[in-house]
Amino acid sequence: MVSLHWDESGDITQRDFLWGFLSDDRKEVSGRPVAIAEDSQGSIYITDDYAGAIYHLSPGSMLKASAPYPLKVTNNTPRKPPTIDSDAAREGKALYQDHDCAHCHQQQVPLKELSKKYTLETLASYFDAPTPPMPRYNFTDQQKKALAHYLLSLEALR
Ligand code: HEC
Repeated sequence: MVSLHWDESGDITQRDFLWGFLSDDRKEVSGRPVAIAEDSQGSIYITDDYAGAIYHLSPGSMLKASAPYPLKVTNNTPRKPPTIDSDAAREGKALYQDHDCAHCHQQQVPLKELSKKYTLETLASYFDAPTPPMPRYNFTDQQKKALAHYLLSLEALR
């Protein structure tokens, strides 16, 4: 996120304001700032619909932060572990085997750390628009849910 600063002559400069939502290699996402609101005290609230968090920035905090400012966001909001439904997970396992998902996901594209990136809901909806060349299977809602339970159950055991 950047902040824009106007000077008397009307020139606008841009400064980094809040960062840390992407890892340095830009591969890992830890947050997605969405909406911003300001209260009468000048505090700023920013919602993050990826981390499920609200950040509170109070006036002066940028100046207090030691150089280099601005603040680096570290998101420590712990994710709730998913509640696995064992029947759904069993159905998901059968789907995984029937569709030979392991054909790609055993070695070439290992599925890992899904629980860091997805909830049961977002993982189920991944199958609506998977990253090519992953095929679109036209699963029913129940099948998508079953796969999500199965895949996240694998990680819950680790
Ligand atoms: C033809 C190979 C192929 C098959 C078959 C396949 N996938 Fe994929 N899958 C991929 C590729 C490629 C990606 C994208 C990986 C990436 O974005 O880094 C992917 C991504 C995914 C992801 C998201 C991974 C992530 O880290 O975000 C999930 C979940 C997934 N596949 C599940 C499945 C399931 C379940 C099946 C079987 C029903 C399946 N895949 C079958 C190739 C395949």
